[in-house]
Amino acid sequence: MNKFLKMLYDEHEIIVNAIDAAKQAETLIGKEDELYEMTIRELLSFFRNYADKYHHYKEELILFPEMSKKNELLEDGVIKEMFDNHEDFRGMIKEIETLLDDKNYPATQKALNSYAEALLDHIAVENEEVFQMAESIFDEAELERIYFRFVDCDRELGDQRKEELKELSDNLRKQAYFRD
Ligand SMILES: [Fe+2]
Ligand SMILES: [Fe+2]
Repeated sequence: MNKFLKMLYDEHEIIVNAIDAAKQAETLIGKEDELYEMTIRELLSFFRNYADKYHHYKEELILFPEMSKKNELLEDGVIKEMFDNHEDFRGMIKEIETLLDDKNYPATQKALNSYAEALLDHIAVENEEVFQMAESIFDEAELERIYFRFVDCDRELGDQRKEELKELSDNLRKQAYFRD
């Protein structure tokens, strides 16, 4: 598999771990509300910073425009759908945060579960369709160039910060599994 696609697949896996933790958080409601609120705040920070700032950003800034340039039909089709999804996710995160600020935990969790499902669907479409297409429409040199743009992009945003956010997601998932 090409290096830049592997990078995106790996990021998807890290995001899926956080989605897992988000679903598991439900067990805390009514038992450990303070821990619930703290966990969701950390998850929101992860989704906003890692999933959106590092991951969606590279897709929007580099991958999707490059794919649209290669094939105009994609631009109005699946690529537009992916852009729209990212925008919807930003709205959903805001909505979850508002519910959390109101300490309406059941509604927070309901909104979070919808976000989790929508993001899982989105990731599935990218893994199964979009990335496959990318692999077939670009030649080796183009794939390589995109990879280096990805690396630069992460470096500008901060490699260290990216690693810290990955650890945050790992820890939240571990904590979720150690709860009864
Ligand atoms: Fe995406
Ligand atoms: Fe993605």
